[in-house]
Amino acid sequence: MKSMLRPILLHPNPKLKKICEPVLEIDDSLIKLSDDMLETMYHAPGIGLAASQVGILTRIIVMDCEKEEAAKGKPIVMINPEIVASSDEENIYEEGCLSIPEHFAEIKRPTSVQVRWLDQNGNEQEQEFDGLWSTCVQHEIDHLNGKLFIDYLGTIKKQLITRKMQKFKREMERKET
Ligand code: NI
Repeated sequence: MKSMLRPILLHPNPKLKKICEPVLEIDDSLIKLSDDMLETMYHAPGIGLAASQVGILTRIIVMDCEKEEAAKGKPIVMINPEIVASSDEENIYEEGCLSIPEHFAEIKRPTSVQVRWLDQNGNEQEQEFDGLWSTCVQHEIDHLNGKLFIDYLGTIKKQLITRKMQKFKREMERKET
C-alpha cells in the first residue's frame, strides 16, 4: 500500500500531553502507520516523529538523523522503545519540534543512551545512540510520555512559546476557513 502524508498536530493539543499505549500486535495497519510517519517526517522535513504527533496514541517513533547530503538516509522505526541506560555525562543541543514549528531551545540531556525496541518485523533490537541521534531518540520517547521539549524550560519561556503557538494556530485556522 502506498504511504501517505498525515497531518501533524500542533502544540497546544491535548493529544500531545497523553501517555501513549504500548503496541500489542504488529499488524498491517501499524506497518502502514509507521510508513506514513516516515513519509510525513521526511516531507516536513524533520529528523524524528512520534505517533502521538499524528494523533495516534500508541508507542511508535520514527527517526532519521543522517545529516550528510551524500548519505542515503537511515530510517529507523521503533515500536515500544525503551531507554535501558543513560550516560552520566550530559550534552546540550538546540532542539525543535514539528509540533512547535519555528521555536527552538537549548536542552540538556544525557550524551548517550542505550535503547531497546521492536522493529517492524517484531524483532527486538538494542543499540547505543550518541550525538544528534541520542538527543532525537530521547525527544521522541518523551513524546510517547506526553512530554515536549518546552517542558524542560522555565515557566515564563514555556508560556511565551505556548501563547505564540496559540496565536499561530488561530491565524492558520482563519486562513483555512
Ligand atoms: Ni517533537
